[in-house]
Amino acid sequence: MASSSSSSKTYTTLAVSDNMSRKVCTRAAGGGTPHLSTMIKQYFPETPRESAQKSTIAFAFDIDGVFVKGKDPLPGGADTLRLLQRLKIPYIFLTNGGGLTEKDHAAKVSSRLNVDIDPDQFVQSHSPFHDLVPLYRNRRILVIGGEGDQIRHVAEAYGFNDVITSSDLFVEWRTLHPFPEVSAPHHSAHGRPTPDLRTKEIAAILVWSSSRDWCLDLQVMHDLLLSSGGVFGKKSVKAGDVTLPNNGYLQDNQPKLYFSNPDFEWVTDYHQPRFAQGAIRECLEGLWRYSTKGEAKLEYTSIGKPSEATFMYGEKILKRFHEKMSRIQAMEGGVSGGGGGATAIRTVYMIGDNPDSDIVGANKYKSQMGATWKSVLVETGVYQAGTKPNHQPTYHARGIADAVRLVLEKERYNYLEGQNIMEARVYLKVYRDQEGCDYKAGHANNSDSDSSKKGRILKDRTNTDESIEAVRPPRFGKLMLPAALRQKTAHPGN
Ligand code: G3P
Ligand code: MG
Repeated sequence: MASSSSSSKTYTTLAVSDNMSRKVCTRAAGGGTPHLSTMIKQYFPETPRESAQKSTIAFAFDIDGVFVKGKDPLPGGADTLRLLQRLKIPYIFLTNGGGLTEKDHAAKVSSRLNVDIDPDQFVQSHSPFHDLVPLYRNRRILVIGGEGDQIRHVAEAYGFNDVITSSDLFVEWRTLHPFPEVSAPHHSAHGRPTPDLRTKEIAAILVWSSSRDWCLDLQVMHDLLLSSGGVFGKKSVKAGDVTLPNNGYLQDNQPKLYFSNPDFEWVTDYHQPRFAQGAIRECLEGLWRYSTKGEAKLEYTSIGKPSEATFMYGEKILKRFHEKMSRIQAMEGGVSGGGGGATAIRTVYMIGDNPDSDIVGANKYKSQMGATWKSVLVETGVYQAGTKPNHQPTYHARGIADAVRLVLEKERYNYLEGQNIMEARVYLKVYRDQEGCDYKAGHANNSDSDSSKKGRILKDRTNTDESIEAVRPPRFGKLMLPAALRQKTAHPGN
């Protein structure tokens, strides 16, 4: 702190950061201007430790149609994530995409958006398959989806030790595929000779991501669901036995069937949505209905949004990630968590582009941790603006930046870096007192109750970068609001 004098007035310059300082006008002696520490206390009515005791909001973000469309990032996504990181608001990604390990997928999205993403905040459609590892660790599973050996490797990374693919079956039975002309080279290149394929039972079929060869994969799944004991190529004799439950279908230790993503369609680089994993499931159901003459139910488990299982899994990951954040912040002497553990999460906002997936899932989910889930539908993906969504969200927004801004405003969250002061807005006022001395004052939580005593207001800025700078404590770096947020929150006409 350095002081200088000019006539009867004293100006005190506070080093706020390397490139920022502000001038505070104080009267020379006994002038009644509050002591600096009182002023700062007024700007920050709560200490970090006090604010840590409050609950927080959190976000669950869809990816396709919210942050990216095909390979291209959508506007505002990266800045919005950076803002939430600065605000220390916990969030996870909850996508029906998949095909990679959480670590690799987080790295891919991270490099596309140029924002750090922790694999521990990343939930894919097949992430809940982690919970199946104890059941199938050393039993054989057939994995469906993806190219080459991609899904085999992901399944092995999860801890499944006996993983086969449709390509392995193809290289064992070259005549298995009714129309091999187009895809035979791919299966030949990736099929792994497996000695006991003709005798060993396949305990489960796990569909991890979209099939790349629907004809082969539908044939293989259909064969196994009609097999004896899950041994490929052996047909069950129980099928059609009306004395058995389900008319004898699926009564012969056939593999259990799991789908990870119910989405019928999703957005890609093409101008209209394309088939997703849910579409091949519909095909299998149609084939099953035909071949069982409609007399047998196809039994399967489907996870992925909007299933309760996936929201429950996502909430578990969110809670764990929030606790991890709080521990790190406590170690760094940060503001959230303190020594007393993580704050409770009171509301989770699911932001997505698909009413049949993100929106209905969040609307219906009953939290296991006492939070309320709300939904925000954006217009940058599957949902077309102006149409009536199948499921109404809590809020509508144009895109990701608008959605988060809307939530922060509804929650009356200030954008003050590093502070979880709720019910607050950030003001900057520039006053001219009776002696002609100008000074700036920043206020959080509309705490400027005695403004009339300070003099005439020359400038009044609310939730702008300038106002945030005015109340920002010195230990934080320079804060810039994303342009999209700044335009929306700047006080008009000032
Ligand atoms: O259903 C395809 C999948 O990629 C959709 O992903 O992020 O929109 O849930 P997301
Ligand atoms: Mg989406």
